[in-house]
Amino acid sequence: MTILLNKINEVKNNIKQWKREGLKIGLVPTMGALHKGHESLIKKAKEHCDKVVVSVFVNPIQFGPNEDYDKYPRTIEKDLDVCEKNGVDIVFSPSPSEMYGENNRLSNTDLTFVCPAYNIVDCMCGKSRPGHFDGVATVVLKLFNIVNPDFAFFGQKDAQQLFILKKMVKDLNLDLTIIQCPIVREDDGLALSSRNTYLNTEERKNALTINKALKQIEKIYSTGVKDTKVLFDSAIAVLDKNLELEYLEFRSFDTFEPVEEIQQNTLVAIAAKSGKTRLIDNIIIR
Ligand code: PAF
Repeated sequence: MTILLNKINEVKNNIKQWKREGLKIGLVPTMGALHKGHESLIKKAKEHCDKVVVSVFVNPIQFGPNEDYDKYPRTIEKDLDVCEKNGVDIVFSPSPSEMYGENNRLSNTDLTFVCPAYNIVDCMCGKSRPGHFDGVATVVLKLFNIVNPDFAFFGQKDAQQLFILKKMVKDLNLDLTIIQCPIVREDDGLALSSRNTYLNTEERKNALTINKALKQIEKIYSTGVKDTKVLFDSAIAVLDKNLELEYLEFRSFDTFEPVEEIQQNTLVAIAAKSGKTRLIDNIIIR
């Protein structure tokens, strides 16, 4: 049976007991509105671990002032059903004040923040979302400290987040392993995201060309083209003109440096707006 806990101490008490029993603990951090992508993370966690904790917390400190914090979908009852169905042991769903105290200003004037390596933050999503990854790294470190997991599960869809968090674990000598899980897509290729619910029919149709553009890059690359400028142009030709492209970048997924020629382990990542909805997607060319 899944239990819902809102208090940090209640979670810690359960964890202490499990640790005493020598059980392996998995954490799946989420902001709720769980979809099949999250379910795949939970399933992976169940395979690796004896006990699974899912956190459901719409983290205010990772949203910019003009972003969708207030309108972000909150569906805790449905989320609990998904967790129950998948055998999750604890859903941890704290309030903002449980996580950050009664601070009015949730900024680094009042709170201790984690600042991930600047070179990895000052590009791609970090460029248009200043402070976003500080907020992500801070909440994830707090969740790691609360849940003390052996394994934590993150999707490849948020590739920059994944890279930053893996580096945080390494740089701060955290005693856990991050497991990278593949992107889950709708049958028509759209990467699953809680924000897909914002899209109307037309916007959703246009958004499909994001994945088509990535597939086009794979196709042209498979003919022997490695020059990222050529690959960039081939993808732009496929993207629907109504999308507002924010970036299409080619980076080493070992160093996060931009690459001019595709090499082993190259991340190809796109962010674009369809209507008002900002979407991201990527592939990793092995
Ligand atoms: O990927 C997300 O849903 C969030 O950024 C995370 C990792 C749960 C932190 O709030």
